[in-house]
Amino acid sequence: MSAHEKRFPEGFLWGGAVAANQVEGAYNQGGKGLSTADVSPNGIMSPFDESKDALNLYHAGIDFYHRYKEDIALFAEMGFKAFRTSIAWTRIFPNGDEEEPNEEGLQFYDNVFDELKKHNIEPVITISHYEMPLGLVKNYGGWKNRKVVEFYERYARTVLNRYKDKVKYWMTFNEINVVLHAPFTGGGLVFQEGENKKNAMYQAAHHQFVASALAVKAGHEIIPDSQIGCMIAATTTYPMTPKPEDVLAALEKERSTLFFSDVQARGAYPGYMKRFFKENDISIEMHPGDEKLLKEHTVDYIGFSYYMSMTASTDPEDLAKSGGNLLGGVKNPYLKSSEWGWQIDPKGLRITLNTLYDRYQKPLFIVENGLGAVDQIEEDGTIQDDYRINYLRDHLMEAREAIADGVELIGYTSWGPIDLISASTAEMKKRYGYIYVDRDNDGNGTCKRIKKKSFSWYQQVIATNGESL
Ligand code: BG6
Repeated sequence: MSAHEKRFPEGFLWGGAVAANQVEGAYNQGGKGLSTADVSPNGIMSPFDESKDALNLYHAGIDFYHRYKEDIALFAEMGFKAFRTSIAWTRIFPNGDEEEPNEEGLQFYDNVFDELKKHNIEPVITISHYEMPLGLVKNYGGWKNRKVVEFYERYARTVLNRYKDKVKYWMTFNEINVVLHAPFTGGGLVFQEGENKKNAMYQAAHHQFVASALAVKAGHEIIPDSQIGCMIAATTTYPMTPKPEDVLAALEKERSTLFFSDVQARGAYPGYMKRFFKENDISIEMHPGDEKLLKEHTVDYIGFSYYMSMTASTDPEDLAKSGGNLLGGVKNPYLKSSEWGWQIDPKGLRITLNTLYDRYQKPLFIVENGLGAVDQIEEDGTIQDDYRINYLRDHLMEAREAIADGVELIGYTSWGPIDLISASTAEMKKRYGYIYVDRDNDGNGTCKRIKKKSFSWYQQVIATNGESL
């Protein structure tokens, strides 16, 4: 196939993605309640620690709450067609269990969505991105309590109704599989001594599946032309060798993630999980009607994040960890790593896209991808982030290959188009943006926005619908 035959489809949703708790700041303004992110001082892997909450960088974010107009104008200058962000649950229901929503919080997102519309940017909204009201953790035990499904449904119906004329693309939970790796962030779970942790995590996941299906149902009722997706952290995994044991280990590692999209996209628990539950002494409490609900309200598209691939091995000598985000794995000798040890693998994106499309035959949406790196401001005030351009270009080239393979890809929102607080380490110096934000790890700085070299590169990518990479 010749190069000019490989192209991104018309109407492709080019843009960027952020999450409320990593950009907004203003953690106690506008009637907002405390969320799990507000009490995770060292990022999503850190356990609940209220005593340190005053140190938390998320509290100030990058001040998007007050600067959204300026930031959206910069996104528009880059030509964004779409902007993914999340609604902070605690701006709408500060403790999670109120009967009535907080009008000031609802108004804030009206303002954001109106601003996007002014610039013809399609909002892509995550209903819950790595946070939930702390009230639901303290008073109900987080997602292991079935009651939280009702609170989520009320919250989801509230925002779906309120923004029905403004938002068409939704996602129910960010990286829903993360409940297994960061249970406090993913599920508001705090374990008791001696508790069967695995059971609690899978029970919480079941409640999220039910909540997600209820949100899909509500979304389709309230906004007939809506597109409601799931969102997983893709963990494409290679076997270290062709040894059958390694191949099986890779398959099982992948399935620990694909299980989530299997339930949300196919509408049923797969057989391999039933076996896993049996062998791991896990029993999930389900209500009558849950299975029917899951079956009838599957997602319209598969959203996923992709930063790296994983490798699985059964050889104890290989088991020196490669780093990687939350998910670890062994080091792949054929790949280079980012400064944070994430193994860079553009071809893995093509493989991921093909795997997901072969499996679900539903439209795919890359809702996160990018390189977290330290940026230097040169003496002349510029930021020459060629490493970021190279990473993004290489991944987009593979996305284009996947489209040529027949994959239906509807959009690409790179992670952190403007620098933001990192989720795994709560740092500012791990930067993803096309736009630099003057703020350091200690929270110092003016928050001034500066365009990096990648800004005009991405502008050109979008202007040519990905012809010029
Ligand atoms: C994804 C999350 O896991 O990765 C984002 O959905 C997160 O919230 C992103 O920020 C990058 O991870 P990090 O740790 O570099 O911020």
